[in-house]
Amino acid sequence: MTTLYESAFAKLNLTLDVLGRREDGYHDLRSVMQTISIRDDVEIDVGTGEPWKLLCSAEGIPTDECNLAWKAAKVYCEALHKDPEGLEIRILKRIPSGAGMGGGSADAAAVLRALNRHYGSPLSIGALAELGAEVGSDVPFCTICGTAMVEGRGERVRKLPDLPDCVFVICKPDFSVSTPELYQKIDTVAIAQRPDNRAMESALLAGDLGAVAENVWNVFDPIVTSDHLELNYIKSICNSYGALAQQMTGSGSAVFAIMPSFEYGAVVCNMLKDNYPQIFMAKPV
Ligand code: C5P
Repeated sequence: MTTLYESAFAKLNLTLDVLGRREDGYHDLRSVMQTISIRDDVEIDVGTGEPWKLLCSAEGIPTDECNLAWKAAKVYCEALHKDPEGLEIRILKRIPSGAGMGGGSADAAAVLRALNRHYGSPLSIGALAELGAEVGSDVPFCTICGTAMVEGRGERVRKLPDLPDCVFVICKPDFSVSTPELYQKIDTVAIAQRPDNRAMESALLAGDLGAVAENVWNVFDPIVTSDHLELNYIKSICNSYGALAQQMTGSGSAVFAIMPSFEYGAVVCNMLKDNYPQIFMAKPV
């Protein structure tokens, strides 16, 4: 038996635009995504000689074939005709669930990378990401990591220059949002403001963190905020301590802020931690 170890990094959506509904029911997106230093640890025993098993340190997460990490292992083994002769996947969870931070997708991507390495890297990272699209829309990006423009349903990932070094504060409120319901809702509302993804790309090319911050925008943010005004409270605290930008990530409910320094980030965490125990500081990775 061999044990594999892999890190699963959370993501933030620096921009998120929903371009329209597709015939398959999914939506075409355009999003600049960024992986951050909040991570789950994934361990895989290969060759246990037992039926497949998944363990997770957090409650409320499926531990059967519904878990994206399990699905990823299945998709990989089927695509490459591998029989691992028993797998045990263990996930040490740190990425908050129902946050829009891609926790399940990050775990799935880590499983793909780990198994591919174990079998001698038969797939390139691009081919591995393509396989990830069968598991979930955010899996291709989570396979590649870094800073990237993500398009289509999530399967088209183009690397961008690294985000300049910065400090994020991320605050996960107590409620969660149903992603499918939010996508349904956005079909029924007029989107008043969209991100300027070209300007975001130029800002990244120039390595200009101020310009990056000016272009942070997520079309889901106003929709979720109108139902959950506490997001405005979180953003106002970040803003009053000098945040360069504050915005919800993905379909929520976590809000992130780009802070001008570690010190100001720590102050915001202190201000919010009593009402919001799920508060984190992170860096881009
Ligand atoms: O692919 P994933 O399982 O992450 O997507 C969750 C749900 O989000 C889908 O069932 C769909 O309702 C919605 N979605 C979408 N368009 C995307 C990504 C997700 O409509 N590009």
